[in-house]
Amino acid sequence: MAAQGCTLSRLSLSATSLLLLLLLPPPPLRRSGAACAQWSGEGTTQHLQSIFLGRCAEYLELLSPQLRDKNCTAIWEAFQGALEKDPCSVVPSDYDRFITLSRHAIPRDKSLFWENNQLLVTSYADNARRFMPVNDVLYGRVGDLLSWCRQKNAPELDYQSCPTSADCEDNAVDSFWKRASTQYAKDSSGVVHVMLNGSEPTGAYPVKGVFADFEVPYFQRGKITRVEIWVMHEIGGPTLESCGEGSVKILEERLKTMGFQYTCINDHLPVKLLKCVDHSAHPDCALNSKL
Ligand SMILES: *[C@@H]1O[C@H](CO)[C@@H](O)[C@H](O)[C@H]1NC(C)=O
Ligand SMILES: *[C@@H]1O[C@H](CO)[C@@H](O)[C@H](O)[C@H]1NC(C)=O
Repeated sequence: MAAQGCTLSRLSLSATSLLLLLLLPPPPLRRSGAACAQWSGEGTTQHLQSIFLGRCAEYLELLSPQLRDKNCTAIWEAFQGALEKDPCSVVPSDYDRFITLSRHAIPRDKSLFWENNQLLVTSYADNARRFMPVNDVLYGRVGDLLSWCRQKNAPELDYQSCPTSADCEDNAVDSFWKRASTQYAKDSSGVVHVMLNGSEPTGAYPVKGVFADFEVPYFQRGKITRVEIWVMHEIGGPTLESCGEGSVKILEERLKTMGFQYTCINDHLPVKLLKCVDHSAHPDCALNSKL
């Protein structure tokens, strides 16, 4: 609410100080948006439309030529619908048309869910060559790592700040990921994988989070044959939770109750080897004949 304070304090200047302000040379403009930011999240990403359209075109032309009949302009226009709404009144269903136009099949056994591992998942998935996490599906790709929202009282985009869940639940970015994640979970089939972070102090499996609230409930019993959980730890620790422990156990029991088969693997070797690229001298990364 800092920006409002910012505006208000200017509006509530007394007549005297207003007069003084008019007489005095203007103060240097404050460049930092932070001092006047209305919301706690990052503002709309600069060049949002170009990035969105470029990613969409690249996906269709280079990565999935079989999807070429999709229309990036139409997908952008459907996405834009949510940009016209009040920044705290965007609900997941506002992206329904966007999802309908951008949705495509997810290859069997290639789904990769995650919490607290974003960059590792992105590099492990290798641009959908190895796995297809939600940010390697067209609808996730176009929004990956971006921020967007409309100004509170004007039709233009807000480049200063955007609401997060700390400001309001129905914000443009969270609602987007809720809608995209729900679709992703519904469309997943075969063996699905979940990468969790066993070095995360708040728990490897956040019991409230996108995975717990917008993916697991939408797993389709007839389509998913098994859930494979990978609990990854930072090289050199800490090892805070592993399979069968703490919040991981909560997830395992939830899946069991839902009737899914599951397996849990600590430090799944292919992912660990990728982590070791950055820690090749660490003893935990020493290659021996046992590997
Ligand atoms: C793509 O969608 C836009 C906007 O809806 C439309 O104007 C255009 O004709 C479409 N292009 C094709 C090739 O269908
Ligand atoms: C796992 O969680 C720890 C603790 O929050 C964090 O430092 C680390 O970067 C996370 N690992 C990945 C791959 O994101």
